[in-house]
Amino acid sequence: MNRMIVIASGKGGVGKTTTAINLGAAMRSFGKDVLVIDANMSTPNVGIHLNSPEVPISLNHVLQRKAQPQEAVYSHESGIKIIPSSLSVKELKKLKFEKLREFRNDFKSLAEYVILDCSAGLGKEAMSAMEMADEVILVSNPEMPAITDALKTIKVAQGLKKPITGVIMTRVKKNDYELPPETVKDMLEVPVLGMIPEDELFQDSLRRKNPLVHLHPKSKPARAYKEIAARLINIEYDSDKDRETLIEKIRGFLGVR
Ligand SMILES: Nc1ncnc2c1ncn2[C@@H]1O[C@H](COP(=O)(O)OP(=O)(O)O)[C@@H](O)[C@H]1O
Ligand SMILES: [Mg+2]
Repeated sequence: MNRMIVIASGKGGVGKTTTAINLGAAMRSFGKDVLVIDANMSTPNVGIHLNSPEVPISLNHVLQRKAQPQEAVYSHESGIKIIPSSLSVKELKKLKFEKLREFRNDFKSLAEYVILDCSAGLGKEAMSAMEMADEVILVSNPEMPAITDALKTIKVAQGLKKPITGVIMTRVKKNDYELPPETVKDMLEVPVLGMIPEDELFQDSLRRKNPLVHLHPKSKPARAYKEIAARLINIEYDSDKDRETLIEKIRGFLGVR
């Protein structure tokens, strides 16, 4: 059975898009067929993260019934498939977010794992994406404003009767100011699926328009995403064994990978 996973957050800028594409790339690294849909139509950025900011046929065309869902699917070099949204403000005015649900089965038939990158907040747009979910995964940072907003998103998802798989904590700096995972778990009352460290490599991956998991598969944050992905798809993965060996490190340093 194909699975539709919605990546949601209360607060913007917490790392949703980064998580959607890296979880997708992590599942792909385990041989799974993955499609990431940019359901954040008002401020789309899957395309920006993955080098397809403007494509001839986007999600917008599908929702306006000007194209079939499969015509809006693009293959990314990392191996994942994507459906980008249009960046055009003119296109945005024509959009009716609630149309998304009419395509649920079509989208689900396009890949084994369909990941929806949702917009932040609790507006119509985020709700329309969440309504599509078989399961919701929250993204938050370990700080109070992000956690309180995440709590609201949880309430909304529960109101829609959507199962919440858990929360992924991103940009974790491990300093004294952050909320520890136990506190997050107690506050949100959902499992903490994993913690992604703050890492400059994410800037490198943004610049190179490729998921970090694909570019730096053995880095700490990549292994953290892979651990979460492995648990989600129920396969064995040993993060310690997936570390870079000394010889690989030296090769990387010399630029002869
Ligand atoms: N773990 C991380 N470490 C460092 N930077 C990160 C991390 N996760 C995300 N970022 C950066 O934070 C910014 C916002 O992330 P993004 O995924 O676009 O957030 P959202 O989709 O929630 O608005 C981006 O510049 C991204 O590269
Ligand atoms: Mg985003």
